[in-house]
Amino acid sequence: MSTGQTSGQRTAVRAVGPGRVNLMGDHTDTTDGLVLPMAIDLATVVQGRREGDRVVLTSVDDPEVAVVPLDVADPTALTPGWARYVAGVVAELRPTIGFTGTVTTTLPVGAGLSSSAALEVAVALALGFTGTPLALAQLTQRAEHRASGVPCGIMDQLASAAGVRSHALLIDCHDLIVSPIALPSDVEVRVVHSGQARRLSGSAYAERLAAVQAAEAVLGPLRLLADPAAVDRLDDAVLRRRARHVITENGRVRTTATALCAGDVAAAGRAMAASHASLRDDFDVSTPALDRLVERLSATAGVYGARLTGAGFGGCVVALTEPGALKEGWLVRAADGARCVTT
Ligand code: GLA
Repeated sequence: MSTGQTSGQRTAVRAVGPGRVNLMGDHTDTTDGLVLPMAIDLATVVQGRREGDRVVLTSVDDPEVAVVPLDVADPTALTPGWARYVAGVVAELRPTIGFTGTVTTTLPVGAGLSSSAALEVAVALALGFTGTPLALAQLTQRAEHRASGVPCGIMDQLASAAGVRSHALLIDCHDLIVSPIALPSDVEVRVVHSGQARRLSGSAYAERLAAVQAAEAVLGPLRLLADPAAVDRLDDAVLRRRARHVITENGRVRTTATALCAGDVAAAGRAMAASHASLRDDFDVSTPALDRLVERLSATAGVYGARLTGAGFGGCVVALTEPGALKEGWLVRAADGARCVTT
């Protein structure tokens, strides 16, 4: 694909790809459901010049340099590991001019804050992508599929591309409409690591998606169902739980968006608690470390609610709190989406 690409100039380029945290709606984007993430003020920055016939990126965090030919065929064959995401973008964008530069990040890697999506959107912009935020998200989602083989949804890339300062993003993954939802000014969003690195969950992620698709083959699109009792039509007990999570989670996204709009943070917190229970009991993507952390944070004065965020299987918990209620982890602020400056 070469749409939206500028002709290369030897100008200095600085592209920023924010990470994201998901407030509500996990494992719903892959069946065109609802999600409520926000782009955050932790980000990956790619800077350098458009030149040459390869993409060459160095990272302060890795002695190994990423070298990606413009005609790269198999991103998964590259090292270091993060070079695969760069190569996935190159393979989708097919720029005619290379790039030489550096990658820096303030995002913890593998924590569930979408460090790979942040890298992908920053690389695409650095290489000259100039389409809409949605087109950027679609291109980098395909890049992620190529790089990781995980059939992820569009949430991470779209949150990073389309972020709006001080707002969460209500995304309908069916019609791909993004509605910014103003966050109440008197709440903080904290992200706390469970201490357990997110195990590369590709096969478990794909297995969950296959189960949900098997449920849809019987029930039709889960995004159109509001009553969890619909799952009673499924014979298989595991499929019933998987489908129930998706149906109830879509409902919780609506509830949370409405609650935030009304400034009812307590109601948003209750939905977060219910979401964690559903991810733990029905979708089976939590871990004992995540459960203990959610329990401890939820019992802390001034915490409205806490839940695992992202795919699960380790990684981080997100909490909605009164200002100053938690000191640990990262205080994150809703940030604008990816951007690129050339000088
Ligand atoms: C990962 C995927 C997203 C989404 C979440 C779970 O972050 O990349 O598309 O499915 O897991 O909500």
